[in-house]
Amino acid sequence: MPTTSSVLDALHTGNGQPPTLPPTLSAERLRELAKAATYLETTQERASLVVKAPFSGETVASLPAGAPEDVDEAFRRARAAQKAWAARPYRERARIFECYHDLVLERHEEALDLIQLESGKTRYDAFLEVGDVALVSRYYAYHGAAALAKKHPLGFVPFLTSVEVNHPPVGVVGIIAPWNYPLTMAITDAIPALLAGNAVVVKPAEQTPFTALWAAELLYAAGLPRDLLHMIPGDGPTLGPSLIANADFLHFTGSTEVGKLIARQASERLIGCSLELGGKNPLVVLDDADLHKSVDGAIRDCFASAGQLCVSIERIYIHASLFDAFVQRFKYKIEAMNVAPGFGWDVEMGSLASAEQLDKVTEHVEDAKSKGANVIVGGHPLPHLGPFFYAPTVLTGVTPEMTLYTEETFGPVVSVYPFATDDEAVELANSTAYGLSAGVWSTNIARARSVARLLECGTVNVNETYVAAWGSTAAPMGGFKQSGLGRRHGPAGILKYTEAQTVATQHLLPIAPIAGMAAEAFAGAVLTGLKILKRLPGLR
Ligand code: NAI
Ligand code: MG
Repeated sequence: MPTTSSVLDALHTGNGQPPTLPPTLSAERLRELAKAATYLETTQERASLVVKAPFSGETVASLPAGAPEDVDEAFRRARAAQKAWAARPYRERARIFECYHDLVLERHEEALDLIQLESGKTRYDAFLEVGDVALVSRYYAYHGAAALAKKHPLGFVPFLTSVEVNHPPVGVVGIIAPWNYPLTMAITDAIPALLAGNAVVVKPAEQTPFTALWAAELLYAAGLPRDLLHMIPGDGPTLGPSLIANADFLHFTGSTEVGKLIARQASERLIGCSLELGGKNPLVVLDDADLHKSVDGAIRDCFASAGQLCVSIERIYIHASLFDAFVQRFKYKIEAMNVAPGFGWDVEMGSLASAEQLDKVTEHVEDAKSKGANVIVGGHPLPHLGPFFYAPTVLTGVTPEMTLYTEETFGPVVSVYPFATDDEAVELANSTAYGLSAGVWSTNIARARSVARLLECGTVNVNETYVAAWGSTAAPMGGFKQSGLGRRHGPAGILKYTEAQTVATQHLLPIAPIAGMAAEAFAGAVLTGLKILKRLPGLR
């Protein structure tokens, strides 16, 4: 139940008992992290965000929830600071992110503890988030300037019309982040926005505010002026409308349902938005795939962060000739997985993040079972490990009337299906409203790539998991169809936070009849000019 608390007396641990915290953390440290949040000092009474540790279900701490007035105030401060920030040379801004890269790596142990504490994932999955923040910082620090650089395309009249294209920042960007990748989602979309010269206001997920605050605290330590980045922990429906009412652009990652709501609200103000939404991501195992490598890959693809990953695999199509061997080995390897709570490196799958996630996963699997699906392995919660644990689960015999045939489960549950031809595999993989990510396994790279190109997905990984495309931060990442709008990473991931401005300058002669020339004669000259230009490769 939400309780109220004041800003000053915000942090308290559950039931008077100190929570079990990993080695690098203490109640004192959490209190300190809360200072990285932007709150309006005058708001006295506010709701509390209760942060629970998924490993145990125990309350870790509660901190004050942001109010819409906090969002308004954050935007006022951000707007006041943004122009001076945008006027600084790119290199100067980039230096802060080069330093951030180093600080994040240096202090990664504390980040891993926080991510694990708030999300219940394994240490290795948490580590991938730290790596991702470093990759995104490095890429945009060194390559963002090229994407934003002034360009000089050909003008209307060759040599007489000179053109420059500029990319000024949009102003202040709003970001709404989910809980499944609490570090990477809270900060990596803000990095290119800031580097492009914007200020940013982030609303991290309700469940994982401390990790987001850690990311902000460290960016301030790296030299980012405080007013350029505001973290406002709080409830989505409460803060969302004021974010959209103030922002010049909004980036959202989360469910397709809320994504569409955001797009509708953004359209009312005609602001741009980018959306990274759900997936029902397919993996295609061709008849010449390496059995051992593809099974190991499938395990990482399906069970990373207990399947709570927008790009995780929930459907596997296996060539009929490999089907039985694949399923048998998959089951054997899954049964050997170390599923446990804990902050050590040896755990292979952790907990689901919340009771809501456990309920959804359980509902999907029970629905499938009741309609005739076969459970190859798993298919049940693991309450002896922790309140939200669910076993890694493989189902066969999944049919269209089962919810999880088409809907994203967002848990450690995968359906496997046999196929006969590559064409059939492509058709099955594409038979979904989503189009975020996919994988293809084959020992024939050319064949795998030609299958990959036919998949209606924003990223496709050949002979590797989602990490290959996601970690290639110089390349765009995002969804076809219902999986989203716009891209993160690569040049597109920074250009989306800018406007495109064309400055065209005319020299010597006007684009109009001169010296008493008749309009018809001028039109004739233009006609001739157009015909000539098409024939001149350098000028068309
Ligand atoms: P969600 O879409 O409700 O939450 C994501 C973010 O949006 C959070 O920060 C939340 O506070 C915010 N939000 C929620 N309602 C809002 C509103 N009306 N206006 C503005 N912001 C709002 O996702 P939720 O409920 O946490 O998870 C439900 C399902 O969504 C998951 O089971 C999964 O299927 C999907 N999901 C997909 C993610 C992805 O990476 N593609 C990430 C998180 C969830
Ligand atoms: Mg929701």
